[in-house]
Amino acid sequence: MRECKVLGRVAALEPTSRRPSFSRSAVRDGRVSSRPMSSQQGQLSKQIDETVAAIRAKTKLAPRVGVVLGSGLGAFGDTLGDLVKVPYSALPHLPASNVPGHQGNLCLGKVGDVPVICMQGRVHLYEGHTVASVVHGVRTMARLGVQAVLLTNAAGGLEASWAPGDLMVVTDHLNLTGTSPLIGPNDPEVGPRFPDMTHAYDAGLRQVLTEVGAAAGIPLRAGVYAALLGPSYETPAEVKMLRLLGAQAVGMSTALEVIALRHMGVRVCALSCITNLAAGTTSAVLSHAEVEETARARKDDLVTLLSGWIARAGKS
Ligand code: HPA
Repeated sequence: MRECKVLGRVAALEPTSRRPSFSRSAVRDGRVSSRPMSSQQGQLSKQIDETVAAIRAKTKLAPRVGVVLGSGLGAFGDTLGDLVKVPYSALPHLPASNVPGHQGNLCLGKVGDVPVICMQGRVHLYEGHTVASVVHGVRTMARLGVQAVLLTNAAGGLEASWAPGDLMVVTDHLNLTGTSPLIGPNDPEVGPRFPDMTHAYDAGLRQVLTEVGAAAGIPLRAGVYAALLGPSYETPAEVKMLRLLGAQAVGMSTALEVIALRHMGVRVCALSCITNLAAGTTSAVLSHAEVEETARARKDDLVTLLSGWIARAGKS
């Protein structure tokens, strides 16, 4: 726990009812009297610390790289060396996913000698979780010290010439979910009020993924990921709109997690498995079972890409 002894001393001088709370960075910088926070501020930081403490009670592994495994893509978590698996239900503030294909475990272990943490399944806004819950897992990874995170997802392809099973390196996103993990008072202990998103998807980490794909003979596409709330798939009219907006893939995750990670200064890379062509592109009716099946069929290539990426990203 990153407890602040100075804060304890300052607070002890005040009667409890009038005791202000201060950001820990303000205390460290000696700015304790100039910047009191509301009681809500600092709360987020505390919750992240609580999840981190619960994980550290189960393993001393200090992960350098994080991976989020999307719909039907969870198998990679079980390939880690010295695997320690912790169900989200055993950790504070991490809700379980109720979506088939999202197992709901944190997997900590190694790829070669790189210590890694994987979210085997994620929670989504459309399940009714708060946006804070949706990003709590990646915020926990960041507080555990990861330098880079690779997020995977299942997505619909917006390019008529693409095919189910194609893999796409995400170059940028359109956050069309209507929300952000950063709404409300900013906790400066977590990150800045107005984080820059110009280089949200790190060019160096993308290049690593492209090179790993090329070396393994796995073709990779590249494009913009549009994140929508879901859970209904898009109408053909919405799909047309997304093409006009410049997106190549559409899904119901990832963008909020990326915002939360960039807020905390973590480098990000994302990979979409195009599990279907988006609604109206063909006459096919979309189903989650098909999404999962197509994602699972790419398991071996996913394991190759993720392992290769981690081996290099973990050293940079
Ligand atoms: N739309 C939205 N999310 C998705 C899709 C889609 O077509 N396929 C997989 N996730």
